[in-house]
Amino acid sequence: MDQISFPDGFVWGAATAAFQVEGSTTADGRTDSIWDAFCRLPGAIVGGHTGEPAADHYNRVEQDVKLMVDLGLQAYRFSIAWPRVRPDGGAANQAGLDFYGRLVDTLLANGIKPWVTLYHWDLPQALEDKGGWAERDTAYRFADYATTVVESLGDRVTSWTTLNEPWCSSFLGYAAGVHAPGRREPEAAVAAVHHLLLGHGLATSAIRAVQSDAEVGITLNLYPVFPADPESAADVDAARRLDGMQNRMFLDPVLRGEYPADVVEDFTPYKFIENVRDGDLEIISTPLDMLGVNYYSEHNVSTVSDGLVPLRNGRRQSGSPWVGLDQLSFPTRNLPRTDMDWEVQPDGLTKVLRRLHDEYPRLPLYITENGAAYPDAVNGDGGVHDPDRLGFIESHLRAAHNAIAAGVDLRGYFCWSLLDNFEWAEGYAKRFGIVHVDYDTQVRTPKASARWYAKVTRENALVATGGL
Ligand code: FCB
Repeated sequence: MDQISFPDGFVWGAATAAFQVEGSTTADGRTDSIWDAFCRLPGAIVGGHTGEPAADHYNRVEQDVKLMVDLGLQAYRFSIAWPRVRPDGGAANQAGLDFYGRLVDTLLANGIKPWVTLYHWDLPQALEDKGGWAERDTAYRFADYATTVVESLGDRVTSWTTLNEPWCSSFLGYAAGVHAPGRREPEAAVAAVHHLLLGHGLATSAIRAVQSDAEVGITLNLYPVFPADPESAADVDAARRLDGMQNRMFLDPVLRGEYPADVVEDFTPYKFIENVRDGDLEIISTPLDMLGVNYYSEHNVSTVSDGLVPLRNGRRQSGSPWVGLDQLSFPTRNLPRTDMDWEVQPDGLTKVLRRLHDEYPRLPLYITENGAAYPDAVNGDGGVHDPDRLGFIESHLRAAHNAIAAGVDLRGYFCWSLLDNFEWAEGYAKRFGIVHVDYDTQVRTPKASARWYAKVTRENALVATGGL
């Protein structure tokens, strides 16, 4: 294998999110998030799983930071649970803030940079009861929450991400209903897009008002989108629409200060533009210091419907996130698939990065998530052999390197995930960790991919995969 080195100063990290790893959902004053409530809905989550026990990260900070040290991580991307630090969206809760203070202190004592995401999907349920992200006021509550966090941690944390994947929060949560809060209201979904982005802009300024040298970004889940049949006008148009609502609807307002005109038109029946007030786009396009990219796969889009709603994750969804697109399927392309049934397509990562470089105002880029679920098990010898995941990460690092070689300003890579965890609607059934978690005993076992990744982080280069 060729030795491929990354630029000096390239940041190597791993990512998690509060609800997926912390557990302790009622500790120290935390109240319900939309995910706690959603987990109680019969049939919402595979196996009826909940945010308990997750990976019990709340009680295992020392142990987990030690794992990060063993992996040679330079940065740890984690999120803060809004309902811990401002329960019910109300006043600040010192006990909740103290948990993150301890985590940050432990990371810094071990030379690991805290990379903080403010919103990884756990809106306080009390705010959802007032309308959630479909309500404009939630954007302002988010900025208040951001202020609380930065006032508490801003003396030690400099890297802030406002939102993780607002596409999921809006379209999976409010249109498909497969994520919390489980609503199937397309009008609410497109309103949520705007209010999330408004919250992002307001929070960006709120962070800087407290910490003038803050590095602020947003993380988007971006996909190359293709028409399955390039000769079919319907497929081509579906791909345009899908690219619009997946990618451009977030990139354009944040980076260019405008919503894409075609998407605004597509969403006329859902009254999208009625949510947008004078001055909002200036707030949303407040300049950023970095952009986070989460990359998992591509969308190969067909309008030759298989007769039902789209098939994703190996099962039929009861609602579709693709607002306004009724006839849609994602035909198989004979590519390998992960345990999520997502196609493995590393070239798509290069494409996403190059598109940002070629088509948008340039910002330092970070891959804030990339990884794969496979059905791992601890073997008789006590190890977890996960060659598929190792190969997935390796091929995507090569793809990232190709983008750097083409001139893209890519500055870091965070694998998803440090630990096996609660994979949202899939519960604990899907394992994304490079470290295996036994949910009964909470024993952590670094998988072969983790041992390999530790070498990569130390050498700042892709290293041979043998001997693991
Ligand atoms: C992303 C989420 C992350 C995780 C991965 C698999 O969409 O940001 O929390 O669930 O997918």
